Amino acid sequence: AEQRGDGRNIVLIGPMGSGKSTVGAALARRLHRPHVDSDHFFVARHGPIPEYFSLHGEDAFRAEEQSIVAELLDSPRPSVISLGGGAVLSAGTRELLRDQQVVLLDLTEDQAALRLGDGSSRPILGAHPVQAWKRIYAEREQIYRDCADIVMTPDDAHIDVRVDHIVRAL
Ligand code: S3P
Repeated sequence: AEQRGDGRNIVLIGPMGSGKSTVGAALARRLHRPHVDSDHFFVARHGPIPEYFSLHGEDAFRAEEQSIVAELLDSPRPSVISLGGGAVLSAGTRELLRDQQVVLLDLTEDQAALRLGDGSSRPILGAHPVQAWKRIYAEREQIYRDCADIVMTPDDAHIDVRVDHIVRAL
């Protein structure tokens, strides 16, 4: 078994559509670690994200997301943890990430346009998903980079190859 890294969790961050969930699951299988996903955990606990946004608003979502991230990071075994694209907006979450191995998955606008679909599962994108994605990316890019220990440049390779690239960088 490939055992890379140290006792820290590996945390995947990055914009919507960057593959944090799918790459995280494949990376976890490769490293024989558990995989958890903050969005999935959120939905299991609170139901669909668009409904939660419209009922409670983004601030309530971020507060709940931060407490979920804290729980997930406090795992008994070093895990691979995929975060929602906006999790790094919470200062408390950024603080928690300082002790972890943080991998940024970057992507291009063209890749995002292909991967976002109609955007309906992501309330933050609104009615014009691609335009919104570009604006949000520009707002967040520096935050992502500041949080990351490892930056994976945009990659169109097969998922197993993307995982190879990450494992080599760890
Ligand atoms: C969000 C990204 C989503 C989800 C929520 C808000 C964001 O996660 O947490 O819709 O603000 O970027 P993904 O990055 O998995 O789409």
